[in-house]
Amino acid sequence: MTAGTAPAERTGSRPVTTAWAYHLDGFVPMAQATLPVTTQGLHYGTGVFEGIRAHVVPDRAELAVFRLHDHLARFERSCRLLRIDLPHDVDELAGIVVELLSRNGVVQDTYVRPLAYKHRLLPGTPPGVSLRGNSDGLSVIAFALGAYSPEGGVRCAISSWARPSARSIPVRAKATGAYLNNALAVDEARAAGYDDAILLNDRGRVAEASTANVFAVRGTALVTPPPDADILEGITRDTVRVLAADLGLEHVERDLQPADLLLADEVFLTGTGLGVTPVVELAGRPVGRGEPGPVTTELRRRYHDLVRGRDERHEHWLTRVPVPRNA
Ligand SMILES: Cc1ncc(COP(=O)(O)O)c(C=O)c1O
Repeated sequence: MTAGTAPAERTGSRPVTTAWAYHLDGFVPMAQATLPVTTQGLHYGTGVFEGIRAHVVPDRAELAVFRLHDHLARFERSCRLLRIDLPHDVDELAGIVVELLSRNGVVQDTYVRPLAYKHRLLPGTPPGVSLRGNSDGLSVIAFALGAYSPEGGVRCAISSWARPSARSIPVRAKATGAYLNNALAVDEARAAGYDDAILLNDRGRVAEASTANVFAVRGTALVTPPPDADILEGITRDTVRVLAADLGLEHVERDLQPADLLLADEVFLTGTGLGVTPVVELAGRPVGRGEPGPVTTELRRRYHDLVRGRDERHEHWLTRVPVPRNA
């Protein structure tokens, strides 16, 4: 993988936005889903978002959206924290996502991005940083995005940027403003020739990667930092916990030192974007044997099958969306 480029560019599959978007109060052609420069969320980072994947079900004109309700429930919780009043409940939001995919009519692996934000100052509200006195906006866009996590694994730096403490910013919400920290960490890592960064929290313990959670494999145990290590509690992290139990692996949440990752048999990342991705090098040293290990490879395979509808045990996590031909 070439360092310093966006993941989609690395595989040559640039994100392609789809024909339709949901914007403010209805479906519009994508080109009309625009916001003015006065949008308050743009000024102060007062927005929240989700990242959701829909995968092509092999041999069918159908997409399988992975853990749609769980993502939208997290979205709704993030909104509440920022005093963003969503005009829809989780079920209605799920309906919007399903309709968007169906209208777009593209049988292609797709990334769905709900975004809610402080929109306009209400009449009589003076300009300034505030969660009140604004109207709220909601947009949902989608773009084609295939798997971009390299099978051979990624090389990670240990970031000089600390993951902010939950006392500084609500790290369990996906708030747009908080992602400046992630962007700085990725930028630093890529400038140094790495693919991604592992961030430590303000206690010097492992928190997570730029947009993924971290696991270490020790024998038959998976060890991952607990929620109070200032992580985002990833939905893929939770999925891997269940897949690990299917495999008879033990799952332990405990604080990890950076050296614990270097001493592990295997290290991998989990996230909606990356799926399950091996880390083969950390801060210039090989992890384990410096190649994807057997536990990571098996979890990756099971996750891949699960999200594409080939695992009946966890079918309840999929929302299947038939995509009408020539929609
Ligand atoms: C900061 C951060 N941590 C972890 C994750 C992984 O979370 P999930 O598995 O829900 O995608 C993400 C991606 O959403 C993220 O942005």
